[in-house]
Amino acid sequence: MTDKIDALLREVEEFEADSPEEVEAFRLKMLSKKGAIPALFDDFKTVESERRKEMGMRLNRLKQAATQKVHELKTKLEARASQADKPKMPDLTMPAARDPIGSRHPISLVRNRINRIFERIGFVISEGPEIEDDWHNFSALNFPQEHPARDMQDTFFVSRNPDLALRTHTSSVQVRVMEGQQPPIRTISPGRVFRNEAISARAHCIFHQVEGLYIDEGVSFADMKQTLLYFAREMFGEQTQIRLRPSFFPFTEPSAEMDVSCNICGGPGCTICKYSGWIEVMGCGMVDPNVLENCGIDSRKYTGYAFGMGIERIAMNIYQIKDLRLFFENDMRFLQQFESVL
Ligand code: PHE
Repeated sequence: MTDKIDALLREVEEFEADSPEEVEAFRLKMLSKKGAIPALFDDFKTVESERRKEMGMRLNRLKQAATQKVHELKTKLEARASQADKPKMPDLTMPAARDPIGSRHPISLVRNRINRIFERIGFVISEGPEIEDDWHNFSALNFPQEHPARDMQDTFFVSRNPDLALRTHTSSVQVRVMEGQQPPIRTISPGRVFRNEAISARAHCIFHQVEGLYIDEGVSFADMKQTLLYFAREMFGEQTQIRLRPSFFPFTEPSAEMDVSCNICGGPGCTICKYSGWIEVMGCGMVDPNVLENCGIDSRKYTGYAFGMGIERIAMNIYQIKDLRLFFENDMRFLQQFESVL
């Protein structure tokens, strides 16, 4: 019997529990009516009288130890449970979490810069629809009926209505401005345009433009040249030179392509300017009198110039981005690089 008591006492001392259920099972096993300790008390009745005193003390010690263990474990587990319910105190010594800030898309950054440069010299911003009719995108702009730019190659037509297409340039917005207002007109139209081109590092079927229009009495090619030189220097830096090369557009006569001196190498040639020292940035020219007449403006009284540039092309140059597709993929690693730019 002594051995039994000692074994149970060891078991009581070593017992640990993680849940109230385990404690209760232990209590039932040891202390309930049919438990191990009451059973020993039954055996106690048969113990001979000279060992009764000692055995009684041992038994009582065991019972006390078991009762106490149950009580201890219950209190401990209850305390732990109520601790878990309490909200945790914030650790005031922790370094502050960084609030994620958004960043503007590089196309928006460059568009905003272009807008500001022209707004400073009195141009106002005008916008128009991305789905255009043939008149505003082509006919009013002096595109002959059979001009290849109307071909399916370049233009996304709306299949249910052949008169409608996704605008291929924002010159369409300028037609709308001229139809609604008499000169003087000084406006720029930023916006998204669409052309059915194969997607590559240098071309996409969606891109962005800013086109400009200035119409008044006595506007000359020299006025255009001076305005574009001002723009080039504001955009690419004070040292920038411009160069105008003859070109062709149905809606301007004469027409030109404007190049700016390469701001990367400053002239001698590099991979960005393909060793020419010049970078092509926009088309421009004097508004064809036919276009003015198409829009209800007297071409004997007024003259004007127009220009148009692709925002992606300029952004690629300013930030030295080699693949135009990056602008459309929204890869966070690319966009996060513009976080600090306003
Ligand atoms: N609309 C022309 C284009 O999309 C650009 C341009 C605008 C050229 C105005 C000359 C004058 O390519």
